[in-house]
Amino acid sequence: MKAASINDYRELARRRLPPFLFEYIDGGSYAEVTLRQNVADLEAVPLRQRVLRDVSDIDTSTTLFGQRLSMPVILAPIGLAGMNARRGESQAALAAENAGLPFCLSTLSVCPLAEVAGATKQPLWLQLYMIKDRGFMVALLAEAERLQCSTLVFTVDMPVPGSRYRDYRSGLAGASGVSGALRRFSQALAKPGWAWDVAINGRPHVLGNVAPVLGKSSGLEDFFAWMRNNFDARVSWADIEWLRAHWKGPLILKGILDPQDAIQAVCAGVDGIIVSNHGGRQLDGVLSSARALPLIADAVADQLTILADGGIRSGLDVVRMLSLGANAVLIGRAWVYALAAAGGAGVTHILNLMSAEMKVAMALTGVTRIDAINRDGIDSSRSTLLPQSATRIRTTQ
Ligand SMILES: Cc1cc2nc3c(=O)[nH]c(=O)nc-3n(C[C@H](O)[C@H](O)[C@H](O)COP(=O)(O)O)c2cc1C
Repeated sequence: MKAASINDYRELARRRLPPFLFEYIDGGSYAEVTLRQNVADLEAVPLRQRVLRDVSDIDTSTTLFGQRLSMPVILAPIGLAGMNARRGESQAALAAENAGLPFCLSTLSVCPLAEVAGATKQPLWLQLYMIKDRGFMVALLAEAERLQCSTLVFTVDMPVPGSRYRDYRSGLAGASGVSGALRRFSQALAKPGWAWDVAINGRPHVLGNVAPVLGKSSGLEDFFAWMRNNFDARVSWADIEWLRAHWKGPLILKGILDPQDAIQAVCAGVDGIIVSNHGGRQLDGVLSSARALPLIADAVADQLTILADGGIRSGLDVVRMLSLGANAVLIGRAWVYALAAAGGAGVTHILNLMSAEMKVAMALTGVTRIDAINRDGIDSSRSTLLPQSATRIRTTQ
């Protein structure tokens, strides 16, 4: 099968990966209502076809936090991404760099920060969770500065992890010790392409950023136990000030879904927010990103940079998310499916596809520059996502 779309890469990833890895990528929390809604709401955004506007010269580039991007797309932080292809985060970061796009490394990556920074030339973005051990955080932030990371993404929608049923069924979570290892081993045997590439040649399989400080207990076999024990559920707005004291570059909060929280982010002085529900992996039933975005844009668009993720499966979806109010978007599963199916070449291919699809979407909606994409591009008579009245929530605090 030759992949023509991100959904094709999803199918190729399903065929290549052991089920415990595919279900981890593909799944969401609980009944997966938000996961499905992320995709469905975005897909249903009705753009307006406009004609006769000279669209011969389309420019998808944009500037974000002083960095020039070939299109307004960032590769989202994905925990354990390095289990999907040999040294997967390094391969994906290189593909992003070659496409002129930032790569955001997860705290819970397999490849450590230094390894990924060594594989690429452009500054990385780093995603951080609040870990109880503040010494660990200070050391990681210092490492990020030493390796010239440009941007810090602080994820705020996971003080505790949501329950993901698929991970229990597949053997990734819950089945501890020998029985869990045996289940995963038997699944790996049935996927020889993956086993050769990753299980044999992709070692070490540890959480690269965490392993050096936590030693043995940071292995993948107790990934979830480690998260439960080390994530700091006491994290609060006061910690943003603490972070600011240890990070001088742009600081972005990831996981904002409520306009009041967006306003508080403005008050906290961050540089940007990511409207996100963690790809439908945390609180199931919350608003899709596409539905949350216009309300948040109405509240804070003129005060900080707004990024958004969740459900983006094509270049057309990128244009839809920008029309709803995002300055740029992050893609999560899209790049991981491609990495799992075809390594760095797969990631390069989907980025090319997205760029081409964006250009067509811009041409057919009659815009030639990113900053010309706005709500006027949405057929408001058919959209249920745009706020009906002009009620704007203002910054009052
Ligand atoms: C397998 C997987 C692992 C993820 N790991 C992280 C992570 O370590 N840190 C984080 O902030 N977000 C994480 N996310 C959320 C993504 O960064 C992003 O918000 C989400 O994938 C966007 O939705 P999409 O997959 O529909 O594009 C993860 C998502 C997936 C699918």
